[in-house]
Amino acid sequence: MSQPTNRRSFLKASAAATLLPAWFVEQCQAQDKPAPSTSPNERPHIALIGCGGRGRGITGEAAKFANVVAVCDVDTKHAEEASKQLKGAKVYKDFRKLLERKDVDAVLNGTPDHWHTIVNLAALKAGKDVYSEKPLTLTIDEGKRLVAAVRDSNRILQTGSQQRSDKGFRLACELVRNGRIGKLTHITTILPAGPNRGGFKKVEKPAELDWDFWQGQTPVHEYIAERCHVWFRYWLDYSGGTMTDWGAHHNDIALWAMGLDRSGPDTIEGKLLVKPVEGGYTAPAQYEVTYTYANGVVHRCVSTDADNIFGGPENKEKTKSKLQHHGIKFEGTKGWIFVTRGHSEASRPELLKEPLFSPKERLYVSNDHMGNFFECLRSRKPPICEAEIGHRSASVCHLGVIALRLGRKLRWDPAKEEFVDDREANGYLAREMRKPYSYEMI
Ligand SMILES: NC(=O)c1ccc[n+]([C@@H]2O[C@H](COP(=O)([O-])OP(=O)(O)OC[C@H]3O[C@@H](n4cnc5c(N)ncnc54)[C@H](O)[C@@H]3O)[C@@H](O)[C@H]2O)c1
Repeated sequence: MSQPTNRRSFLKASAAATLLPAWFVEQCQAQDKPAPSTSPNERPHIALIGCGGRGRGITGEAAKFANVVAVCDVDTKHAEEASKQLKGAKVYKDFRKLLERKDVDAVLNGTPDHWHTIVNLAALKAGKDVYSEKPLTLTIDEGKRLVAAVRDSNRILQTGSQQRSDKGFRLACELVRNGRIGKLTHITTILPAGPNRGGFKKVEKPAELDWDFWQGQTPVHEYIAERCHVWFRYWLDYSGGTMTDWGAHHNDIALWAMGLDRSGPDTIEGKLLVKPVEGGYTAPAQYEVTYTYANGVVHRCVSTDADNIFGGPENKEKTKSKLQHHGIKFEGTKGWIFVTRGHSEASRPELLKEPLFSPKERLYVSNDHMGNFFECLRSRKPPICEAEIGHRSASVCHLGVIALRLGRKLRWDPAKEEFVDDREANGYLAREMRKPYSYEMI
């Protein structure tokens, strides 16, 4: 079966593009509950650890439900800016000091990927609930530890893969699960390509940044701005490039639609489409990874350079499109559905428009990702993207990165969470931590 890799070719295949169908919007309105009114004294106290762009963004959302009492960052400028934005929340540099506070009920974790797990484990140990940014982990071993810690501590952990709480993605997954496109045979997840640059200039480290603390468990490097704020995601030391950055969103939806979000693939094969620039970003920039699953589905995860790293369409003149190209395409024996942020398409309009009468499978309903976290703080029920789900979505991305590093087909056992008879590949499941940064530090 031909599997076009971008949206233009989908459109050529006489696609029907649509907004959410009226029957589904009505259903969502009936499901939406008004937020419970709470007096300022009843609102939980929360703290933000990692006050960069995303950390501050999610804390703005959380402030609708909670009082922000503390902020923490190894870059004091970022922490102070966050404190100003958050009405004088107390500033910390070491998250362990912040976590000693008894009056903090929950933390939001907006640190870079290589800090997610240690901070999350420390917060759970201190009895806090956690909203952690995606990708939930740096390695598969970290994810296994985190899942066990959440279970043992009886705490709530929500992963920041917010597409789970977006109606369009839920509709697509519910339709696929209920056979609307027949038997699901193929999935294509299209992710923005990463930057492939090098020749970065050494600059003086900003005085307000503790660079050693920022690097944490990872190998020491001289400071360059492109290794630090925002750009860290394109270095394998700290992250996995767009494969983990965007994959934690779109591959998460692929697993949800298959009902395999507590499992994973059986085989993984990866091909790098461009070589990294010498001395530059190390994470795969353009790639193609193929996964197969026990249910027979073939899942291709491919990069597109028609979108920029933030997901917006790049080069509008060339592509003649104002729409993003990244997203998820589900193909079955009776048609296909493509879904992305704010937009869905199908091979025939009826696939999206006809209501689902008495569906066999109903998915978890959340129409507000942060709201769902606070609802679960009260109910103590698992949130929509609990630790196991966040871990498995990150795992499928980590597996892709490992296959790209090794350049050969790998066999994976999703129950044991290890590669089959492959010592070299299993060597990538955990990483050595640079002392004194380790699980012993918390
Ligand atoms: N859900 C989404 O749509 C979404 C969007 C953007 C980013 N993210 C995720 O959010 C995370 C942060 O991304 P960003 O773009 O805001 O990065 P950023 O570099 O802007 O912010 C990270 C902040 O964490 C701080 N930090 C580093 N180590 C720390 C430590 N040990 N203790 C306290 N603070 C520490 C940094 O100094 C920086 O201020 C990433 O994991 C990213 O994948 C998610």
